[in-house]
Amino acid sequence: MTFLLRDTHSAYCKNTHFPAEPSRLATVLRLLKFKLTSLGAGKNSLFGPFSMPVNSIGLFGWSLFSSLNPHGYGELLKKFPSVSNDFQSFEADIIAHMIDLYGGNQKDFTGMISTGASEGNIYSVWLAKTRFLKQKIHRMALLITSLSHESTRKAAQMMEIPVYVVGLDKNLGMSLSSMEQTIRTCYQSGYRGFILCTTVGYKKTGTADKYEDMLAILEKLKYGQCPTMQHFVWIDAALDGFIAPFVGRKFLPLRHVGVDTLVVDFHKLGLTPYAAGLIVLRRTVTEHIKNWETASLLDSRSTLPSVSGWAAIHSLGKKGFQTMYEKSNRLRSEFLSSLSGRLSMLPTYISQYDVSLFLECNRHQWQQFKQLEERFFLRCHHEDISTERGRKKLYGVKIYFFPWQSSDETKRLLDACSDLDI
Ligand SMILES: Cc1ncc(COP(=O)(O)O)c(C=O)c1O
Repeated sequence: MTFLLRDTHSAYCKNTHFPAEPSRLATVLRLLKFKLTSLGAGKNSLFGPFSMPVNSIGLFGWSLFSSLNPHGYGELLKKFPSVSNDFQSFEADIIAHMIDLYGGNQKDFTGMISTGASEGNIYSVWLAKTRFLKQKIHRMALLITSLSHESTRKAAQMMEIPVYVVGLDKNLGMSLSSMEQTIRTCYQSGYRGFILCTTVGYKKTGTADKYEDMLAILEKLKYGQCPTMQHFVWIDAALDGFIAPFVGRKFLPLRHVGVDTLVVDFHKLGLTPYAAGLIVLRRTVTEHIKNWETASLLDSRSTLPSVSGWAAIHSLGKKGFQTMYEKSNRLRSEFLSSLSGRLSMLPTYISQYDVSLFLECNRHQWQQFKQLEERFFLRCHHEDISTERGRKKLYGVKIYFFPWQSSDETKRLLDACSDLDI
């Protein structure tokens, strides 16, 4: 969507003058209707097949709240109080439910509704820096991979924290050996604070970091070669935070004492309208921001995501989410078992936490897949990545198996793939 932000706005705007007079109601209504339908509202044309459905009860909650409270203002938690009331209870409930879902103890964690994972990532880096400065640690570094979301780099730039890109392993997750090596080298050159972004569900590949092993390495270094180091670890689970707890292996990251924050989006697989995310916070990391009037990054926040997200998770429950992802897994397995010819030869990456698969390909194959982007649930990505073995250009296609897709669509995708010149 970056094209809307370039200096081309005047090309999109027919009349640049601020309206001098009120327009006639009929004109405003006619224009509204025209603009919305030409944008394709309801037809998903902006994002192709990628518009997430919204949970109908969540949407009802949204509309009901808007009708009772048109301004949308609600008193959200400002200071992580342990008791809440009225509007605050929606946010407080969501925080408590998600802490429970991720295996956390309510006494140890709190949280904050955000506009999405970018805000959560920025907030995490801010908390990390604040804590390190309180500990008199001035040399700190942010460790990410080439596939980490760009909001992590933006956060580092805003907060003037150097970024170290750790190599990816053969599963396209952060390489444990490269991570250990990077920390040791940084430590030797004087760094003492390490901020580690672990991603569960990379946007471009769907692959995940092994956060449990990473935490173990941090402990090993702290009690071994790097005795005066401190670390701050956060999990960016923007997409997979709403998948991982309901599929396959257990996903209980908050049971690990080393996890400081966790970021998840409600406007992705939480089936809540934009802009809705959550950041779960270990209470000890909030100690250092107690002097601020508001604990959130943004002073003004909307209550709508809390109301809608609350209604969505209550209407679905664990069972509802599990049923959705059982279907996703079936679709993915069917697709994989039907792969044939050159398609089946492509290196395939599948994460147990995700509902997608990533096929690595060459540039030519990538261009072929690109033709399918508008019609199917897939996205083609290319990226210069750092791996354990050096830099390389990664081309690939991420294919999604959302529960709202049908088996027929998966079959059509297979047919379309076999018609490609790959
Ligand atoms: C892993 C990851 N982190 C962060 C983000 C940013 O999320 P948001 O758009 O909600 O700010 C995304 C978006 O896709 C993502 O996939």
